[in-house]
Amino acid sequence: MQSKFKRILFGGDYNPNQWPKEVWEQDMAYFKDAHINSATINVFSWAKIQPSENEYNFTELDEIVDMLSNENYDIVMATSTAALPAWMVKKYPETMSTDSEGRQHKFGARHNFCPNSLVYQKYAKALATELAKRYSGNKNISVWHINNEYGGYCYCDNCQKQFRVWLKDKYKTLDAVNDAWNTEFWGHTFYDWDEIVVPNELSEEAWGGMTSFAGISTDYRRFYSDSYKLERDAVKSIIPDALVTTNLMGTFKGLDYFKWAKEMDIVSWDNYPAYDTPWSMVAMTHDLMRGLKDEPFMLMEQTPSQQNWQHYNSLKRPGQMRAQSYQTIAHGADTIQFFQLRRSKGGCEKFHGAVIAHVGTNDTRVFKETAQLGRELESFGTRTLGTRNKSDVGIIFDWDNYWALEYTSGPTQDLKYVDQIHHYYEYFYNKNISIDMIPVDGDFSKYKVIAAPVLYMVKEGMKEKLEQFVKNGGTLITTFMSGIVDQSDNVHLGGYPGPLREMAGVWVEEIDALAPEQSNTVSFSDGKEYKCNLLCDLMHPE
Ligand code: GLA
Ligand code: ZN
Repeated sequence: MQSKFKRILFGGDYNPNQWPKEVWEQDMAYFKDAHINSATINVFSWAKIQPSENEYNFTELDEIVDMLSNENYDIVMATSTAALPAWMVKKYPETMSTDSEGRQHKFGARHNFCPNSLVYQKYAKALATELAKRYSGNKNISVWHINNEYGGYCYCDNCQKQFRVWLKDKYKTLDAVNDAWNTEFWGHTFYDWDEIVVPNELSEEAWGGMTSFAGISTDYRRFYSDSYKLERDAVKSIIPDALVTTNLMGTFKGLDYFKWAKEMDIVSWDNYPAYDTPWSMVAMTHDLMRGLKDEPFMLMEQTPSQQNWQHYNSLKRPGQMRAQSYQTIAHGADTIQFFQLRRSKGGCEKFHGAVIAHVGTNDTRVFKETAQLGRELESFGTRTLGTRNKSDVGIIFDWDNYWALEYTSGPTQDLKYVDQIHHYYEYFYNKNISIDMIPVDGDFSKYKVIAAPVLYMVKEGMKEKLEQFVKNGGTLITTFMSGIVDQSDNVHLGGYPGPLREMAGVWVEEIDALAPEQSNTVSFSDGKEYKCNLLCDLMHPE
């Protein structure tokens, strides 16, 4: 397909605002040597570009944009709304989020605004609009980057009000809500919309991570996945053909990225594997990010050397960054971008790797490796851009299922959705079989094999869709803990795996949980035996 870019974007987050002007000039020279052609700017500059409630100041940002435009960079322009300016929080404390224990946060840190605060919305929208107006004519701005790593949940009164509005829109009547959440259980029946409160540690999620009603907890995540179109719309209202993205975080549990991708022009994501993350897990996450839109994606961030926020921030070994970058391209990326281009001298990211280290020169291993990669990528021209990966195997990934499975109470706390998906992914990966990560509403007909591990939640229409796939000759692989509940987390009655029972030809009568020190053995008719653990089904072949 046609790529959204004219060249592979190679660069990353760049914060010249943290440095004196001499450094900018030096940077431009170094970056040229490294074949860097792109910079992501203005990610955390709200306080600088709006020093007070009634005042914008774009002097410095103009200079940065001019400098990069003169060097013909592909600029990724962020909207700066992920960290609030101190004046805003002082005057409007409600712009800060309230956590799951009901504590309203003070000024500080980042990613902790309340997306439903009307004040926040007003200022974020105004800023995005102002930026779009100011830079709409700049041909070097290739991408608009909304906010940064969305994800924080808020449980304040504003969010509660909005949640009720969302629920009214979804269910229409309170009877329907009561029915969906099965509130007859523990006598949680609602007689008025105002009785519904946000599910957090003061209410339904009082037992650390688990919930008394997975229906309400899952709906709160769905509600949050529907927020946040505001800034995108503001940019588009001024620049209708802007290429808009926001940087996602792979298998992040908090937001339904399949829903989000529909609202984005291109998917971008930040890849921060730990020293012990299997490469197959990284590959799977790239495939998931490609699968969100079934299109090439942007690698918005990776570190050229090390992170600062993991338990053990190991260096990438010589050649590792290069290899991981090629892995990224091979899985469908059209950009390789770093966090960040120059390492900061203060703040909690001073130990986060960058293309230019604290020594301040280009005479480092990391710089040289970056430059080598830059040269190689440049030599590819447009050959890899927009290329597609063809896969005969699809693996279903579904955020509703992720939430319901992990918020549910029982049968084991050790069952983790992403690990199970990876388990199946790894099998194909080790055989070099290309895989697409697909949504439940995807086009199944493209595949010979579809794996749907722990397909706990079988929503309306899925039974028919999966059966059709199999009738047409497809092979469906599913597992234990599948077909158990409907979209509201109420059990499909009549024996597990519910709607999949007929097709699977088994009836699971009971599910046994094994503690970590316990295991069991499965014997097959060919005499082979395998160890099993976690959950064991007492099952009848039908
Ligand atoms: C995230 C953020 C960046 C930076 C990096 C550090 O991806 O988007 O601003 O904090 O982490 O790893
Ligand atoms: Zn809130």
